[in-house]
Amino acid sequence: MAVQRVLTGITTTGTPHLGNYVGAIRPAIQASQSADADAFYFLADLHAIIKCHEPALIRQSAKEVAATWLALGLDVDKAVFYRQSDVPEITELSWILSCMAAKGLMNRAHAYKAAVANNIDEGEDPDNGVTMGLYGYPVLMAADILMFNANKVPVGKDQIQHVEMARDIAGRFNHHFDDVFALPEAVVDDSVAVLQGLDGRKMSKSYNNTIPLFLPEKQLRKHINKIKTNLLEPGEPKDADTSTVFQVWQAFANETQTNAMRKQFEEGIAWGEAKKQLFELVNAEISEARTHYAELMEDTAAIEKKLQLGAEKARDVSAPMLAKIRKAIGIGAM
Ligand code: TRP
Repeated sequence: MAVQRVLTGITTTGTPHLGNYVGAIRPAIQASQSADADAFYFLADLHAIIKCHEPALIRQSAKEVAATWLALGLDVDKAVFYRQSDVPEITELSWILSCMAAKGLMNRAHAYKAAVANNIDEGEDPDNGVTMGLYGYPVLMAADILMFNANKVPVGKDQIQHVEMARDIAGRFNHHFDDVFALPEAVVDDSVAVLQGLDGRKMSKSYNNTIPLFLPEKQLRKHINKIKTNLLEPGEPKDADTSTVFQVWQAFANETQTNAMRKQFEEGIAWGEAKKQLFELVNAEISEARTHYAELMEDTAAIEKKLQLGAEKARDVSAPMLAKIRKAIGIGAM
């Protein structure tokens, strides 16, 4: 079988946290290291501007996300790492696809539907605050994916629908014009943990319960100490399976360490002690990358150089692909 191209985007809003690391960044970097990997990873800054209209925040987040992936050892000689807005072919394709995408399909997109439902709940006009960008979000995402003939798209559960829409749009296009697009498939890795946040719900920026990945050491310790526990005293047995402390432990520990911590829970480890051990485990895994991250955040030029190299490699693929698409639909030079 031909090499499978893997592609995923990271929306650049907010600061990467432990949940992003465990759920997306760590597995993606690992996957890109295998000998036959063909990985395309990009900063989805055109998606970021849908929800965030603060230039300073957009800029800062793009920098933090890029520095995070590089600090964690993403090898840009192997993986193509670029910024979406540096590849203008994507936005052109987005328009072309929007002429093949059914409006009714977009009506069913979760993010749009949630916005409308929310407006109705609050007695507002259904489309209050809904921009064309939000409405067309899945089309831009389809362009990201189809532009590079990606086969596998690793995403969280909330994004499966968007990948299926991309597949649907590609199928329509292929059927009506020429067979130009590969049909992508969402990949949701169930072995990868969905990390719980400080309050025990899924760790997410929208719940304001995250532990940022590269906090200074002292701050990291403080955040871990804030993880919600119950009132059980030292010496009282504790239930590992309902504990966020244990859940985060598991995401960083090997099997032996996991079993050892489970035993300590049964034996009534004090919450303070469990958190202390958790801090040490997490810190050991990320402390080297944190140093590298701090250096990169002071050296934007170094980040930019890598992104430009990535954009060049991406455009080596997207430019001929777009030419093929334009030809298929009948636009461009006679
Ligand atoms: N919408 C995705 C998210 O919020 C990010 C994204 C943009 C993406 N384009 C993509 C993911 C293409 C996979 C493929 O997580």
